[in-house]
Amino acid sequence: MTVYFNGEFLDKGRVCVSPDDRGFLLADGVYEVIASYGGRFYMAEAHFARLSRSLAALRIAEPDLDRLRDVALTLLARNDLQQGHAKLYLQITRGVASRSHAFPEAPGPPTVYATVEAYTPPEQLWARGVHTILVPDIRWARCDIKSLALLPNVLASQRAKEAGAYDAIFVRDGVITEGSHTSICAVYAGELITHPLTHHILGGVTRDVVLDLCRRGDIPYRERPIPEETLCEADEVMLLGTTTGVMPVTSVGRQRIGDGRPGVLTLRLQRALHARMVGIEA
Ligand SMILES: Cc1ncc(COP(=O)(O)O)c(C=O)c1O
Repeated sequence: MTVYFNGEFLDKGRVCVSPDDRGFLLADGVYEVIASYGGRFYMAEAHFARLSRSLAALRIAEPDLDRLRDVALTLLARNDLQQGHAKLYLQITRGVASRSHAFPEAPGPPTVYATVEAYTPPEQLWARGVHTILVPDIRWARCDIKSLALLPNVLASQRAKEAGAYDAIFVRDGVITEGSHTSICAVYAGELITHPLTHHILGGVTRDVVLDLCRRGDIPYRERPIPEETLCEADEVMLLGTTTGVMPVTSVGRQRIGDGRPGVLTLRLQRALHARMVGIEA
């Protein structure tokens, strides 16, 4: 597999990350994930804009993003992934420096790693819906930054796996924030509800697309917190994400959502999102 590392295209096995890399030592970095179909990246500008915001929030020098757009396309070509679905991971750290918590006095260049791999959309789960669990949101207060520091997400995701669930849904101060790697929406009497954009959630690109689909499809929506105790009273619940698409949630913990089958609005948004992606309307 050909990957990109600090200015070079090379075989993945030849990448050497320094033990002094601040990403390795301190999780001092950010990442981004972008899906492609038929050789084109979907919502690339929104993902690059979020990358730029994450880097600025952490005061990591921004690499040349135009160059990274070209790198992404070159990776698709070199890995023969110009047909069908693929996903790009971009990892950027504050670079290599001797260990100290504060920024290095004379910062070197950021470390930049990019890789693409084939990806199969979870069509069976889209049709069937998934089980989820609730977990306490023990993350920091800047969840809007797509930071490499994912330990609470890792632990939540592992708890979900051990419970036979697709994802764990975070609860902070009595409200539903988001999934361990997804945004979340609930539908009450035809109105879609999702957490507002605050520091307590990642501003999901898929969330933005779904709200746009609601506006264009005359589907009412509101951005307001969902109290934990009302989640299971929703007619429909869905998880959103770049690789998750629009995923129906049919149960949370021991409670069924609606009649335990994917909701009508969820399936409508799922189809509309997928059509946009494969039709490549950016
Ligand atoms: C915590 C969290 N929320 C939401 C999302 C969904 O974001 P996007 O739709 O941009 O993939 C992700 C994706 O990785 C995530 O990690």
